[in-house]
Amino acid sequence: MPSPSTASSSQDYWEAVATEYQAVTRIAEDDFHFGPLVPGDRNLKILPPLEPGDRCLELGCGGGQNSIHLARQGARCTAVDISNRQLEHGRRLAAGHCLEIEFVQADLDNWLPPFPAGSFDLVHSSYTLPFLHHPRQVVARACRLLRPGGWLILSTAHPLAHAEPIELSETKRGVFLQNYFKPPVERAEQLDGQGIWQTETCQPRPIAEVAAWILDNGLWLRDLREPRPLPPSALRQSPPPYDSDRWRENLEHLRYIPIVIVFAASKTEEDRI
Ligand SMILES: C[S@@+](CC[C@H](N)C(=O)[O-])C[C@H]1O[C@@H](n2cnc3c(N)ncnc32)[C@H](O)[C@@H]1O
Repeated sequence: MPSPSTASSSQDYWEAVATEYQAVTRIAEDDFHFGPLVPGDRNLKILPPLEPGDRCLELGCGGGQNSIHLARQGARCTAVDISNRQLEHGRRLAAGHCLEIEFVQADLDNWLPPFPAGSFDLVHSSYTLPFLHHPRQVVARACRLLRPGGWLILSTAHPLAHAEPIELSETKRGVFLQNYFKPPVERAEQLDGQGIWQTETCQPRPIAEVAAWILDNGLWLRDLREPRPLPPSALRQSPPPYDSDRWRENLEHLRYIPIVIVFAASKTEEDRI
């Protein structure tokens, strides 16, 4: 057994975990997902209508399934991620659908986008914000890249997602959150090919804090959702677009608190860049 040593960077963690992540997570390519076990956009109808040729940018794309879904409807998609392995998976999936998606390897925390302001009709990100060290700056850059009238769709970890399950009695179960304004940070570890433990942190933020990142950039907040995981009977009949056995193990607990929050905002038409 190799002796564990401490981590280096986010990228090392995601390179180490990517293959298993894609193997154990069932992610649809024919719906837009917002996070674990919750319904996709076919059901929630949060995304704006897109025209063929609209330009979309995905931040923290993983295997790019959301971009693939949008590209299948005629959008021109760019998808950014820190992990080369995640991007390789995305390239393979896109090739399988004969789709041309521009996959870009970059650390969003330090990314200087090579696109002029106003380049995109839609910027979207599913469950990547809590892994970033400078999410406020990343959201600001995303807002700048939107054209007037363009949309920003962000799904992220709900502040309750890391609350601790508690059982007060056989019938009284709930969650414990010591400090809403500083939700607990979760630390994930993964052994890489060299026997080194790579770590990553996941940090939910209070709802008003994330909303302020969007509003401070002059966007209108158009929708805010706390989607609920589907009940077990529905999960059996029609699996959600982001699903895994590991997430399902916690379903009983997750049915009663939101773990995903979705923000939909648009850039005002008057806001000429
Ligand atoms: C939980 S996964 C979500 C991936 C994808 N959105 C999905 O729903 O399957 C988080 C993703 O964020 C990426 N990521 C983490 N930190 C990043 C950073 N600093 N810059 C770019 N991507 C990052 C990871 O490589 C990973 O693919």
